[in-house]
Amino acid sequence: LATRDFIDGLPKAELHLHLEGTLEPELKLALAQKNGVDIGQSTIEEVQASYNFNSLASFLAVYYPAMNVLQTEDDFYQLALTYLKKAHQENVRYAELFFDPQAHMTRGVAFEAVVNGFYRACVDARAFNVDAHLIMCFLRDLSAESARQLLEIAKPYQAKILGIGLDSDEHHNPPLKFLREYGDAVAQGYRITMHADIDQVDSIQHIQQALEIIRVERLDHGTNIVENPDLVDWVEQLKIGLTFCPLSNRLVADDMKDREVLELIDHNVKVSINSDDPAYFGGYINDNYEANTTKNDLTIDQVVQLAKNSFETAWISDFQKQTYL
Ligand code: HPA
Ligand code: ZN
Repeated sequence: LATRDFIDGLPKAELHLHLEGTLEPELKLALAQKNGVDIGQSTIEEVQASYNFNSLASFLAVYYPAMNVLQTEDDFYQLALTYLKKAHQENVRYAELFFDPQAHMTRGVAFEAVVNGFYRACVDARAFNVDAHLIMCFLRDLSAESARQLLEIAKPYQAKILGIGLDSDEHHNPPLKFLREYGDAVAQGYRITMHADIDQVDSIQHIQQALEIIRVERLDHGTNIVENPDLVDWVEQLKIGLTFCPLSNRLVADDMKDREVLELIDHNVKVSINSDDPAYFGGYINDNYEANTTKNDLTIDQVVQLAKNSFETAWISDFQKQTYL
């Protein structure tokens, strides 16, 4: 059995983490005070008491209003740098980090404040040896037109953004809603991934559209795929990464999806362990590794394989992969 000490010491890549999901109660309250934003809570206990979700929708209903405390470029910088220091402590060597510009622009924050703050933190993290990059997400419950406008607005900043993702409420928002925008993103040189959240209505159809039509390079969550052996073969053969987030699944879907992951490991699928929204779901990456290891009695070999998968499915060159593996 792999111990917590072993997990802590293992070099890892983080591939599924929302920067807005690293907003800890302490920083949330400090920024609320600094920026004069009323979030309806004034103590850490009150903030934590508001964290009672049992579905993706109930989580998102707490998650988006909290973002009101993020106002200036420095706020975004501080949020990301605080996370990156934590990642360094947990032996994360490489990170691809989601952010949601539309969630900030719709409340009057400029795109450039968001991207410049987050990007500056990624640059500064090089000083402590974390190589971090940004994945810009479309909010799937907003229109395709809004996603297209975001791609336009991002054009002058493209050097600061590695890839495109898709998050927020999946219900009635299938991958194909963004077929054209994903095509444009690929043509512009972005890498592409998208969420296929756990236990959603039409999960398998959404996964199939993402893989066969949009042709994503990774799938975020997506472990429901075990319901369809043909799709499991597809991701195994094309070495498409699945970014699994055990603590998130346990809270939002009431199921850590541990059996699914064992099955995927057995099928040589490149599944990795990640943190999703650690300030909300009760743990950073090593807590996620530990929770899954304990649940499944994972061996050292299996845990090493999961960490290797994280580097193998990262958007880096084969040469850079060699330096980590
Ligand atoms: N799914 C959908 N939207 C999200 C998530 C997620 O896991 N985390 C933050 N926004
Ligand atoms: Zn996510």
